[in-house]
Amino acid sequence: MTETTQATTRPDEQLASSIREDFPILRATFGGRPLVYLDNAATAQKPRPVLDAIQDYYCTANSNIGRGYYKLSMAATDRYEQARHTVQTALGARHPDEVVFTRSTTDATNLLADTFGRQLVGPGDQVVVCGMEHNSNLLPWRRLCESAHAELVVAPVNERGTVNVADFAALLGPRTRLAAIGHVSNVLGTVNPVREMTAAAHRHGVPVVVDGAQAVPHRPVNVADLDADFYCFSGHKVYGPMGIGVLYGKQELISALPPYQVGGGTVKGVSYAEPVEYVPVPARLEAGTPNIAGAVGLAAALRYVAGLGWESVRKHDETLVRYAVESLNAIPRVNVIGNPEDDPSGIVSLVVDGIHPYDVGGHLDEHGIAVRSGVHCASTFLDSLGLLGTVRISFAVYNTLAEIDAVAQALNTVRPGSWTADHPATRFL
Ligand SMILES: Cc1ncc(COP(=O)(O)O)c(C=O)c1O
Repeated sequence: MTETTQATTRPDEQLASSIREDFPILRATFGGRPLVYLDNAATAQKPRPVLDAIQDYYCTANSNIGRGYYKLSMAATDRYEQARHTVQTALGARHPDEVVFTRSTTDATNLLADTFGRQLVGPGDQVVVCGMEHNSNLLPWRRLCESAHAELVVAPVNERGTVNVADFAALLGPRTRLAAIGHVSNVLGTVNPVREMTAAAHRHGVPVVVDGAQAVPHRPVNVADLDADFYCFSGHKVYGPMGIGVLYGKQELISALPPYQVGGGTVKGVSYAEPVEYVPVPARLEAGTPNIAGAVGLAAALRYVAGLGWESVRKHDETLVRYAVESLNAIPRVNVIGNPEDDPSGIVSLVVDGIHPYDVGGHLDEHGIAVRSGVHCASTFLDSLGLLGTVRISFAVYNTLAEIDAVAQALNTVRPGSWTADHPATRFL
């Protein structure tokens, strides 16, 4: 660690200091500098218990599930189903069959658009999304609307970076078939009033899909409390492995979904002559060999976060976000966008006046600080904010105030670079 990041633990960052050792990658150095990893909204690092659970699965239980009539396969099946139970408990779902394992949030929203959406949405109908959606909760619905000759309606984002319940409710009407809403903005870290929005949608008989990709790592999510009809998240953002995600759905809705992909594990038996009979959900929606080790790793990750205690995780988030907003806004030419301090959720986005976000990101990288700069797969939102992009600092349980000081120190010396000079209007993902 540098002198900055090694500063003695402050009383308000006890959580990070007690657990940094759990994350082997945090010992890495790049170009002789220690890693200051602040791109957790893209993906979080993995603690030892998650890495161990994956290794243990491969060392002691690896085999295919649900297909082998032998003890090893039954052990693997048990671990996979136990993982489903862990997710069920973490989300407060009523039944394990309400939990479908997917590859990711993106996989879950596509599954829903191609099954639920196709059943529900027809010509002239409307699907409502929010003005801050990540492409993964925008494009599946947009494509659905295009193919169904339906209309995509966008709820406006207010000046604090969230959606007003009244604005959202005003868009709901007899043509609304579905609402797909982000829980926490991956651009600004602002939090939508999902429970109230869902209640408003239900008053119009409209089912709600929630993209919880940025919520699940930062707050205890209870689907019963939110009354969400569907809730999606990715394992890798909540300290789990990549390639595993979750689609929760209320039993009466999810159990009625047709297959998304078809293949092994989805059917009762196939003949050339008879109609195909599919097995119930969740297996019906998990065609082919699933990511068993991923599910096991995700369960370990959810247990890890629960073990830290949500109160400490929330307090840690609040401390970091509020400190970052205050200290970064105090730097000349730096402006934090939105109001992430209203309900801290691990993300602070900023712009530096007159400097392209890629130049800022590159400058921070030279200081060993990993952040994301650009449009964060949400160019529609950035357009509505009138911004080329932002520099996004996103926190996890292991980040420290000293790391924010390192960002602030580096930002004090940032200068326009080649992006600002040569490609001032260029942006990518
Ligand atoms: C709000 C939000 N939704 C969806 C996604 C997509 O997640 P994944 O790439 O894991 O499918 C992301 C990823 O950044 C996100 O932030």
